[in-house]
Amino acid sequence: MKRIVVLASGSGSNLQAVIDACVAGTIDAEVVGVVSDRIDAYALVRADEAEIDTELVSRLDGEERSAYDTRLAGAVSAFEPDWVVLAGWMRLLTMSFLGHFPGTVVNLHPALPGQLPGTRAIERAWAEAVDGERAESGVMVHLVPDEGVDDGPVLGSRVVPIDRSGTLETFASAVHDTEHRLLVEVLAELCSPSAAT
Ligand code: GRF
Repeated sequence: MKRIVVLASGSGSNLQAVIDACVAGTIDAEVVGVVSDRIDAYALVRADEAEIDTELVSRLDGEERSAYDTRLAGAVSAFEPDWVVLAGWMRLLTMSFLGHFPGTVVNLHPALPGQLPGTRAIERAWAEAVDGERAESGVMVHLVPDEGVDDGPVLGSRVVPIDRSGTLETFASAVHDTEHRLLVEVLAELCSPSAAT
């Protein structure tokens, strides 16, 4: 069975989807650790409720990014992960972290490949739709081989149509529902016994 470590900075609804899918056997893996950079991340509460070990690795005042990323890599390595999943992790990672997990870091982004890199992608897509410049957005799961922002080899993506008769909230909810499904599908494939290791 594969070992998954999830990095999350916020609510953790994607973490919850992965936890539930592992428990249900949809993903042939176990979430062995949850790491956050924020003490108030609800993702840590979800992990506690699922009796999953957690680590809080907050950036210290004045700490260099590479020093922080090296400390973070140490905390994640301790869980001996097969896959490191960035699910709502709101920090850009340097090679000081990524170099420790070659080919095994996966990120989730609430936009289609090559579109709306960075933060607030859902709100930006909605704003473009309101301006009549966009009719759809989507979600993607991709590998993180380097310090590119929300780019890297795509493992899966799904289109989410934008219903302008709805609201930002209904659109955001549709995006999150799609994310939960796609992340589980991609991890089920990556962790399947037949997957190339
Ligand atoms: C998700 O939309 C993810 O794509 C983005 O941040 C959000 C985190 O949601 N990077 P949650 O914390 O998993 O609920």
